[in-house]
Amino acid sequence: MPEILITENIRGGAVDALAKRFDIEIDPDLWRNPETLAAKIANIHALIVRNQTQVTAELLQHAKALRVIGRAGVGLDNIDIDACTRAGVVITSTPDQNAISVAELAIGLMVCLARHIPAADADTKQGNWNRQQFSGTELYRKTLGILGAGKIGFLTASRARAFGMKVLAYDPFVSRDSVLLSELDAQLVSLDELLERSDVISCHLPSTPDTLRLLNADCFGKMKRGALFINTSRGDVVDELALLDALRSGNLAGAALDVRQKEPPVKGELETMPNVVLIPHIAALTTEAQQRVSQAICEDVTRVLSGQPPLNAVVRF
Ligand code: MLT
Repeated sequence: MPEILITENIRGGAVDALAKRFDIEIDPDLWRNPETLAAKIANIHALIVRNQTQVTAELLQHAKALRVIGRAGVGLDNIDIDACTRAGVVITSTPDQNAISVAELAIGLMVCLARHIPAADADTKQGNWNRQQFSGTELYRKTLGILGAGKIGFLTASRARAFGMKVLAYDPFVSRDSVLLSELDAQLVSLDELLERSDVISCHLPSTPDTLRLLNADCFGKMKRGALFINTSRGDVVDELALLDALRSGNLAGAALDVRQKEPPVKGELETMPNVVLIPHIAALTTEAQQRVSQAICEDVTRVLSGQPPLNAVVRF
């Protein structure tokens, strides 16, 4: 009978080391089948997931021996934290380990949009040589608005500073005298001011009841004409229909989405637009980030199963 169940694709040396110490079952597709998961979880002591396994109150009722859930990543929207607290199950996550990868991807998407790289690539591969069609804009001296000034927002902004961008930040949980923001010479502003003044807006918000569809028609309407919008955080913070309208009207010049309202998404008009870059939730998927994530999560699960406190416990304030 396994003590640890891994329901998504988490591998590497740290998992191998964990398997030498504990009895583990790894089924990277188990998240797709909640009924089988519910049947398997009864005697499990630790569950390790990424962002697709739905850890609901209903699932937890089947888990009679569960002590810890290891969330290999940052977002906690697939885990019912209150139900875990009621059930006495510790949640541990890896808040910093993939931040650099996400920030690097956000910058990559910014450059893609400003210089039309994906559309120019697709067109050139058709045998064309349309130089004027793909004339772009510089990022130098443009204003980047960071929605959510946590670790990933900060790392994205610090990289944008190297491009000579000015930085505005909106984050209701960050104080005006934040050392990190002053290091970047960044200005903490209201949401409206950020939307009105930014040439590029990069979204780094968690999915919470307060952020659900925060980027709606009203917000897109307030953005500077010709702004670029990037989301590498969570899809449900954006109203995709409102985004589509803003792109159609030309108020937004382009958008890049790593995350979607529904994943995988249903193919629609966004998929047909040349000024939209769409990728399948890959911001954290680099060799380095995944090694760090699996190392950190295996370490914390080991700690809890050995009676020690985890290093990265999720605490609800
Ligand atoms: C995260 O929350 O860290 C990301 O969505 C990456 C992931 O879970 O794979």
